[in-house]
Amino acid sequence: MSVESRVLSGYIPRHIAIIMDGNGRWAKKRNMPRTFGHKKGSENLKNIAIECNELGIKALSVYAFSTENWSRPKAEIDYLMNLPSKFEETFKGKFEENDIRVIFSGRKNRFPKNVQDLIKRVEEKTKNRKGLILNICFDYGSYTEILDGVKEISELYKNGDIKLEDINEDLMKNHLYTKELPDLDLLIRTSGEERISNFLLWQLAYSELYFPKVHWPAFNKKQLLKAIDNFQKRNRRFGGLKEEK
Ligand code: IPE
Ligand code: IPE
Ligand code: MG
Repeated sequence: MSVESRVLSGYIPRHIAIIMDGNGRWAKKRNMPRTFGHKKGSENLKNIAIECNELGIKALSVYAFSTENWSRPKAEIDYLMNLPSKFEETFKGKFEENDIRVIFSGRKNRFPKNVQDLIKRVEEKTKNRKGLILNICFDYGSYTEILDGVKEISELYKNGDIKLEDINEDLMKNHLYTKELPDLDLLIRTSGEERISNFLLWQLAYSELYFPKVHWPAFNKKQLLKAIDNFQKRNRRFGGLKEEK
């Protein structure tokens, strides 16, 4: 049986997250500027989103720019800020054909105005699509996400809209950027780094983690299938224990 048919006959994760890491190293190895790696990485996101949609995955959250990435050199930041508009121009046809909805998670008030407008436009245009939800985490940081959620909940409490007893896991979940998405099944971080770098800390509580060596621009359908195949062999216990027969 091919890996693909094995994967398709098993449990397809509903929500996958990817830390798309290694763009710079991938480019350096080819004696190219780091920005070339970001260009290839963004093209690869289109391909992987379409593959995920075809496999029947409901949501794909990708880490595209972290709240800490503002400390990179200005030229690299400028290049990264330009990628969403390139992304929109180049891929809108393909995403429409595949009925892919695009949402953005993160702080949305630190971008240049044109990027803020683009985010609103893309979210609005794709909001009724029924295929994969591509959640692009851009100026995203998990500490910020959780703190913003806590502030919203504090407001509700202060205004008397909720009682202390109403503050529970479900309420917190509903005040995170991912509130519309299924629980996170699998996190993939490319490029061999084995850390979370402030990504989806709450959502990762019971996700499976997978760290392939390949850099993001080279992560293809074959590696995606390998990741899901590996995931399907895991025994997710969620802290429980099956009765022994
Ligand atoms: C990931 O690739 C993309 C972003 C963080 C924007 P990097 O730019 O981190 O590439 P490496 O890790 O330096 O190779
Ligand atoms: C995490 O990668 C952020 C993105 C992939 C967008 P980094 O390359 O910024 O993370 P560190 O610095 O290696 O932890
Ligand atoms: Mg990196």
